[in-house]
Amino acid sequence: MFYKGIIFDLDGVICFTDKYHYEAWKETADEIDVYFDEVINNRLRGISRMASLEIILERSQKEYTKEEKEKIAYEKNERYKKLLHQMSPEDLSAEVKDTLDTLRQRGCKLAIGSSSRNTKLILERLGLKGYFDAVSDGTNITRSKPDPEVFLKAAEFLGYAPSDCLVVEDALAGIDAAVAGGFDSAGVGEAATHGKVTYPLKTFSDLLKIERDS
Ligand code: BG6
Ligand code: MG
Repeated sequence: MFYKGIIFDLDGVICFTDKYHYEAWKETADEIDVYFDEVINNRLRGISRMASLEIILERSQKEYTKEEKEKIAYEKNERYKKLLHQMSPEDLSAEVKDTLDTLRQRGCKLAIGSSSRNTKLILERLGLKGYFDAVSDGTNITRSKPDPEVFLKAAEFLGYAPSDCLVVEDALAGIDAAVAGGFDSAGVGEAATHGKVTYPLKTFSDLLKIERDS
């Protein structure tokens, strides 16, 4: 029996917002005079906004109060949201859309499991508002990946047990979260190199080739 539910991470799986995150963090880090580059940006994949800021501030000489950190994160997000307005349905690749449609035709329920608090805005920009059967994101969790909360909530919203769901991820922290929640996982990009990923994929449409061992 194939998976009843498939839970997709958003950034790096369904769409590519990395460059916008980078640009918004870079401007923010420059403003507070903290060194930031693409290598540091890679460490931010899959983790929450505040956890990302903590990583960026590892390079800072200054100690920031909680309120100051919240202000910096807010400003980064304002920049990021402005950049997201450049996104349109054309940013959704035919490969991703056709694969999602085919999985749905095969009877799978599809969900989003993303740490992002901007999930709904991104889905709207991509023309996917209302497409998924369930959306679990940064607005309904208290602990970010590698904690499994976001995926457990997605499975709950779909009405399935973790053992009936497959998690699709691009981040190492996302595969850690899937493992911790008792989910099988499919990894694209860096996540395909994780030692515990169930199905390392070369490309997104390889999801259609998965045959579940039971
Ligand atoms: C994840 C991204 O999807 O969302 C992370 O991979 C990001 O890089 C996280 O930090 C939180 O995003 P947002 O949109 O709530 O700032
Ligand atoms: Mg991701």
